[in-house]
Amino acid sequence: MTTMKTIVIGSGGREHAIAWALARSGDIKEVVCIPGNGGTAVEEKCSNVSANIHDIGSIVDACVRELSGSAEGSFVVVGPEDPLAAGLATRLAESGIRVVGASHKPAMLEASKDIAKAFMKKYGVACAESETHTDLTSAIAAVNRINGPVVIKADGLAAGKGVVVAPGPEEAIRALKSFMEEGSLGSAGRKVLVEEYLQGDEISILAAVSVTPETAAAGNAVIQPFVTARDHKRLRDGAKGPNTGGMGAIAPVPELDDRVLEQFRTDILELTLQGLISEQFDYRGFLFFGLMLTKDGPKLLEYNVRLGDPETQAVLPLMDFDFARMCGAIIDGTLASFDFRWKDGYVCAPVAVSGGYPQAYQKGMPIFVNRAAVEAVGARVFFAGAINDKRSSSQASPAGPLVTSGGRVLAVSAHGTTLEEAREKAYRAMEAVSFDGMFYRRDIGLPGAAVSGDL
Ligand code: AMP
Ligand code: GLY
Repeated sequence: MTTMKTIVIGSGGREHAIAWALARSGDIKEVVCIPGNGGTAVEEKCSNVSANIHDIGSIVDACVRELSGSAEGSFVVVGPEDPLAAGLATRLAESGIRVVGASHKPAMLEASKDIAKAFMKKYGVACAESETHTDLTSAIAAVNRINGPVVIKADGLAAGKGVVVAPGPEEAIRALKSFMEEGSLGSAGRKVLVEEYLQGDEISILAAVSVTPETAAAGNAVIQPFVTARDHKRLRDGAKGPNTGGMGAIAPVPELDDRVLEQFRTDILELTLQGLISEQFDYRGFLFFGLMLTKDGPKLLEYNVRLGDPETQAVLPLMDFDFARMCGAIIDGTLASFDFRWKDGYVCAPVAVSGGYPQAYQKGMPIFVNRAAVEAVGARVFFAGAINDKRSSSQASPAGPLVTSGGRVLAVSAHGTTLEEAREKAYRAMEAVSFDGMFYRRDIGLPGAAVSGDL
């Protein structure tokens, strides 16, 4: 019997999947989610503790309180980027708490696109060309010199709204004015990158990282990539409509050339590892490589210092290892010898969103889940924008009814021997879920579903 306790920080579908993965470990007695969601409230071994996720001090206090008296080895996993950028992992470590999550300095690789690009260039990581500008006139001049498709990126964290892929100077200049002159993203958009437009298929590679001056000195510093994954960002079938936070994911990406993965390893992963070591970072957490597979090989679009959402909901069900032990290995610096094993087959995880998302949408819609039907196809539901509401009449969970509380409400995740089988199971399970205004794409995982023809 073990008494190890873990805490998961965050409230999305990614955090539900992390909590589920931790709870499956025989080493773990209890998983506390801060603040969690309606799904984590009822997941086996899991419970929620409310806290203001934007107040680092109160999260640290809640973690200290929750972990007092818990068994040796207990730890915290930080899910989203905002608390990492605000230094949560560093603060937790200073309080003597074992934590999985990038410390403050490496967290800037996501929080500032300028810092990320400078790091990529310094260490020779394959990426798009770009210039950083703080002056609107010089940014416009750069766009006019390119005089074709170009990508405008706000430097700071902008919750997915900071990147504009512009077909030409007119749209690019509109984005520049919006970010730099009108301040549409606040301080996040005062500095911008004018970036080379890359063409190709996109993939996501999530990875576990254990890099510290100690592991580096011992030759054990490592970035261990997981199976590949693919997000589907556009709202509608056929990769049409506006960009979203992700309408579904698959893992692994089918028919990926081994050569591409080898190029990723040599031109991106190894150089990133050298960079993390050279900068003497303490980086014990996760790293997400957003890649464009161009005709000149894979190029890095971005680093995220966390797991992807919804990629995590597709990748973690393929684990054939103990996720909690892997977290322990990240913290203890033994990740290099951790035995990663992945299940055969594929996972398809379409996301159901509130009607109107990504624009305004209604909240508080009762969510109905026919659990027996979902289980009968061997699928599972990872909740995101869903909370418990005693006043609702839905019977979604044993702990009480669920209602919608966000744009992306849930993902249904199903495993199959083939991608087609995974898709078929996921969509059959999706039919067992309903709420007013529910919308989902029907083509997650189909060839071409993630590639947008129009700029
Ligand atoms: P990011 O937040 O950097 O991942 O950008 C969001 C999305 O913008 C990516 O998933 C790509 O679809 C697109 N994007 C970003 N950078 C580029 C680029 N250099 N060329 C083409 N598309 C890009
Ligand atoms: N799925 C993309 C992300 O998590 O940023």
